Parts: sequence; C-alpha cells; structure tokens
Amino acid sequence: MAQILPSIFGADILRLRDEITFLEQEQTQILHVDLMDGTYVSNIAFGPNQIAAMKKASAMVFDVHMMLANPERHIDDVIKTGAEMISVHYESTPHVHYILQKIKKAGRKAGVVLNPGTPESVIEYLLDGIDYVLIMTINPGQPGQTFIEKSLEKIRNTKKMVAGRNIQIEVDGGVNIEIAKKVKEAGADLIVVGGALFNSTPKESYQALKAVVQ
Ligand code: DX5
Ligand code: ZN
Repeated sequence: MAQILPSIFGADILRLRDEITFLEQEQTQILHVDLMDGTYVSNIAFGPNQIAAMKKASAMVFDVHMMLANPERHIDDVIKTGAEMISVHYESTPHVHYILQKIKKAGRKAGVVLNPGTPESVIEYLLDGIDYVLIMTINPGQPGQTFIEKSLEKIRNTKKMVAGRNIQIEVDGGVNIEIAKKVKEAGADLIVVGGALFNSTPKESYQALKAVVQ
C-alpha cells in the first residue's frame, strides 16, 4: 500500500487554514511542503517562517522538499520549523552528505531528491544515511507539468537499490489518478499530488487517488 501526500503548493493560498482543516478531516498523515528560492528553481514558495506557522496549525507530519541553492545556509532554519521529514536535492550542493547528517542528527527523517536528469546510482554512497529517496517526475519548480514516463524505470531501479533497507521511495510531479497507479506498481511508497487533488472536486479526487494506491 502506498500513501498519497498532498502538496500544499497546489492549494488555494487564500484559504490555507481551510485547506489544512480539509486535509486533516480526510485523515492525511503527511503533508508535502515545497520550499523554493527563485534561484535553484525559478519559482518562489514557502520559506521557513511560513512552514513553521503551518506546522503549528496542524497535526500532520510535514515533509519539507528543499529546492534552494546553498541548502547548508538554510538547513538549521528548516529544522527549526519542526518538520519531521526533510529532503535535499542531490544537485543543489557539493555537501549533500553533510546536510543529510544534519537532518539525521536533529532526529528527523532525511531524504535525498533526484532531478529527472540525475541517475539513481548517485545514492549508492548515501544509503546508510537516508530514510527516503524523492524521485522528481517533472523538472522541479512549476506546477502543471507532464509526468516524465521514463521515471517509471528509475523508480523500479531505485526500489532494487534500496532492497532490504528501511528506505522509502517518494515520487513528486505530474501525478494524476492513472499515474498514481503506475508509480505505485513501479515501487513508490509515498506519492505527492498537487494539481490533481486541489481541483474543483478535491474530496472526490483525493478519495479516488487513495483508492488506486491501496
Ligand atoms: C514541483 C513541486 C511539487 C508540486 C507538484 O516542483 O515539487 O511538489 O507541488 O505539483 P503537481 O502534482 O501538480 O505536479
Ligand atoms: Zn515537491
């Protein structure tokens, strides 16, 4: 069974509290929160202060996806938000191992994120220090992109690499109902959904998404 992780970036920013209440009523366990700096990716989204405020207003586990340059400069602030899961892009720093160690030392779950052009083999020497691998199935930064089909192969390969370890596979970008089923079958444990959940019928969409990953 896989889990759907709603991405708050896809929610209505003017109704954030209501969106959080809705997700809690729907028994959401983990909320995916994007942090974008306008440099590492073209978009700008929730910073540590906004994440900390959302965290205070919610009982959900927070999965913060850091998309920023120089993550070593910001990791302490991200840890202070209280997020239980924090991931860092492999490509965003020459010190990815250092960031992962910091996350683990703070008692949080550490994830390494791979862009579509990054091979899964780069995680080989990180396996001892991670709790999850986040496979980007679009290029990070902009909503409404199309799922990259080649990612299914990467999910399957990564699943083999982590066999026998307590490491989960997360997938993020362009997931709809049909793709949720495919990524689950390929080996995804945690499936992030933005636009395909926060649409005109969120309750129905969320339930349908959950049903296909059971
Ligand atoms: C994109 C973000 C995603 C985004 C996914 O850079 O990392 O979390 O919210 O949105 P959808 O599911 O609409 O592609
Ligand atoms: Zn994300």
